[in-house]
Amino acid sequence: MALSKRPLPPLRRAEKIPKATPVLQDSSCIAAIDFGTSSLSVAYTTPTTGGDVKVVRLHSTLERIPNAIIIEKDDDEYEVTDVGHQAQNSLSNIHKGAKNVIYFERVKKLLERDKSLDRTTEVSSFTGGSYYLIEVIAFILTHLKKKLLADHLKRNYKSSDFDWVITVPAIWKARARRMMREAAYMAGLTSDAPGITRFTPVGSPLPRPEEVNPQKLSLALEPEVAAIYAQHQSHVLGPPPRRYMVVDIGGGTVDITVHNKRNGRISVVLPPMGNTWGGTTVNEAFSAILEEIVDDKGFESFIKSDPIRAKAALNKFLYEEFEEKKKIIGKKTKEIVLTLPALLVSFYGHDKLQKARKLKMEYDPDPNKLTIGYDLLEEKVFKPTVDKIIECVRAAFDELTDHIDTVYLVGGFGGCQFVSKRIEEVITQHRGILYEIIDLECPEQPDLAVVSGAVMWRKDPNIIQSRVADATYGI
Ligand SMILES: Nc1ncnc2c1ncn2[C@@H]1O[C@H](COP(=O)(O)OP(=O)(O)OP(=O)(O)O)[C@@H](O)[C@H]1O
Ligand SMILES: [Mg+2]
Repeated sequence: MALSKRPLPPLRRAEKIPKATPVLQDSSCIAAIDFGTSSLSVAYTTPTTGGDVKVVRLHSTLERIPNAIIIEKDDDEYEVTDVGHQAQNSLSNIHKGAKNVIYFERVKKLLERDKSLDRTTEVSSFTGGSYYLIEVIAFILTHLKKKLLADHLKRNYKSSDFDWVITVPAIWKARARRMMREAAYMAGLTSDAPGITRFTPVGSPLPRPEEVNPQKLSLALEPEVAAIYAQHQSHVLGPPPRRYMVVDIGGGTVDITVHNKRNGRISVVLPPMGNTWGGTTVNEAFSAILEEIVDDKGFESFIKSDPIRAKAALNKFLYEEFEEKKKIIGKKTKEIVLTLPALLVSFYGHDKLQKARKLKMEYDPDPNKLTIGYDLLEEKVFKPTVDKIIECVRAAFDELTDHIDTVYLVGGFGGCQFVSKRIEEVITQHRGILYEIIDLECPEQPDLAVVSGAVMWRKDPNIIQSRVADATYGI
């Protein structure tokens, strides 16, 4: 598994390219997709919701689902069989040599600021074979569109009834944003076309989709719309802050923006700042420790032994088993106990896994358990990522020319206590107040701030009155 992280510049700013923001018409049917590195969510409003923003239930709860998709191929037809947790489970149960199954997870990572990115960028399926990344994204968007229109709204609305918003990190370059737009057209969001149904073989020319109803598709900046949501929550509790910083820490990006709100209108006072560290780099750091225990960089020999099943077992372990425990460390427990995949244990053997002790972990061969203490996790697994995040938050504070009242902390990894504790320290040093969105009840959770805020923004697009960064809406 390619889990080690390329060194990236810790901090970059978007360029200042002043552009006029297109005027958007009022809309009563709005759908938004938060296409996150780790997770997906959809929210909407229609006349029947009475103006309220509703989050679409994509599995048993309103929680976001993992950005994972499984597609089955039958002759030349491709069918999405599952997304989210179910897709992850299906991958785990995959049989050796399953040739007709294609699986992708966390593809947004590939859209990070990479000079080599373009519309023909390829992505490998976990089960082998290369595909055009843009088409993979289009399959995911097509499926989410179906979930909203068919499953949730029982076909009472058509896709073209909606104005669609897709959220993107503020630090993304124009090329990645353009790819999201193109994928949205491929998914038929703004038309009533069924959306993508087959992959173009890699190497063949990639057809350009027709750009139907371009005015019905907007991209919105994630931290900005999260701020709109946070302000909305603040209203419930009293007069909201006037000058504030938003720190959105997700699976793959830290996105920071600073706003000044006057007469109900927002001016963005700093260009977006951020970097590509987030919750996922913690999973990658944990993977690196495991690789060290078994002395197998990238689990190369394990994967070679049985590529599909080994990758599936590692993915399940790192992005389901560890992922679950990672969210509760420090809250309910001072150590985490993980069950190692049977396939991994039988490949490396107990003796090799006993080397965990050298790294101050406990391996118990009887039930294949690995126990890791809080201090080790904090120091070796979380700290490298948290340090990079804090570096970025500090840099944003250094850019401030005026005081701020509040810091809104949103995004799933913002909920990690190792992160919030350190951000509080930075704020204390700058004598501000940390404002955390109170985790009341679904859907008012910080990780739903982006998707809910995106719908709120589209209801009142003029709320963002000016920005110093390059304009994004409508590109
Ligand atoms: N309580 C928690 N403690 C620690 N980490 C958490 C917690 N809740 C969520 N996370 C982590 O936050 C990340 C997901 O956050 P979020 O859903 O905001 O990301 P995303 O929107 O998919 O990514 P991005 O915005 O970077 O593209 C995951 O890495 C997850 O493990
Ligand atoms: Mg996010």
